[in-house]
Amino acid sequence: MASKVPRVTLNNGKSIPILGLGTWGSPPGEVAQAVKDAIDVGYRHIDGAHVYQNEHEVGEGVNAKIAEGVVKREDLFITSKLWNTFHRPDLVEGACRTTLKNLGLEYVDLYLIHWPMAYKEDGELFPADADGKTAYSDVDYLDTWKEMEKLVELGLAKSIGISNFNSKQVERVLAIAKIKPVTNQVECHPYLAQTKLSAFCASRDIVITAYSPLGSPNRPWAKPEDPQLMEDPKIVAIAKKYNKTSAQILIRYQIQRGHVVIPKSVTKSRIQSNFEVFDFELTEDDMKLITSFDCNGRLVPITSAAGHPYHPFEKEEF
Ligand SMILES: NC(=O)c1ccc[n+]([C@@H]2O[C@H](COP(=O)([O-])OP(=O)(O)OC[C@H]3O[C@@H](n4cnc5c(N)ncnc54)[C@H](OP(=O)(O)O)[C@@H]3O)[C@@H](O)[C@H]2O)c1
Repeated sequence: MASKVPRVTLNNGKSIPILGLGTWGSPPGEVAQAVKDAIDVGYRHIDGAHVYQNEHEVGEGVNAKIAEGVVKREDLFITSKLWNTFHRPDLVEGACRTTLKNLGLEYVDLYLIHWPMAYKEDGELFPADADGKTAYSDVDYLDTWKEMEKLVELGLAKSIGISNFNSKQVERVLAIAKIKPVTNQVECHPYLAQTKLSAFCASRDIVITAYSPLGSPNRPWAKPEDPQLMEDPKIVAIAKKYNKTSAQILIRYQIQRGHVVIPKSVTKSRIQSNFEVFDFELTEDDMKLITSFDCNGRLVPITSAAGHPYHPFEKEEF
């Protein structure tokens, strides 16, 4: 079944549906159903990762809808990500194959380096030193990138990209890449509008994929006193004006910037309403107004990797 979601053309000539379903924190027991609901609603793009530890269920949902004849594999765009403990060149292909086995698929449409920082390769997803601090590895993500390129040659990933890379890190990859990253998946919402990084990536023909577009209210480290993006009176007022929900405004904001956007939900009614974003348009003035809410409000700062030489957000570069 075809879907009406507009697609964004990537620098390798392939294309990606501009709206996808996020799956971080989507619990086992719920995420297979969420994926099935999303496909029924018309989503054709699912964003996952090995570290979310639910890829077997994501795959269950995907394969159920293929078996039912609702979609064909080639109608879907499935993304996964290489976790930080698998950056060492000899581990990259195996990590991708593990993801494919969990998903029950022969290829992913997009495979990303999840973060530029490598962690110690001892099998644990969050390795810690004796003092409890994250244990790092000194693998350079450029060496990892060369292995990512081989995944395309092997047919395991149709496209490859990066996530959470700052502009200098993107430049380093471009300087050695035989295959350019198609996207940089980064946090993006009105409190962290990423104006500079978005323009920079556009100039390099790299699409931005906006994660945590709704302000990630379920992030594990959220504090009760933290501002809630979807409840921000300024966003609520704009939503009222368009007779839409805050979530729909926040998703539409990304789409009009040409960003791919991947809101997460396991709630059927929200999966449905988050998809109803193609029947209205924000005015240019409202787009500017929403961008003016930027307050460098990063919600996923990965402080657990503080001091890592490749930590992307610790220096002043964007
Ligand atoms: N590359 C990376 O490092 C990275 C980092 C973070 C996220 N991501 C990706 O981006 C996706 C989205 O980001 P995110 O999960 O951080 O946060 P998000 O999409 O900004 O927010 C998700 C939360 O909002 C709730 N929600 C969804 N639609 C809603 C609506 N219409 N009304 C009210 N609440 C709503 C969801 O609740 P329910 O599920 O209970 O409905 C969930 O708690 C992730 O799932 C993941 O795939 C990638």
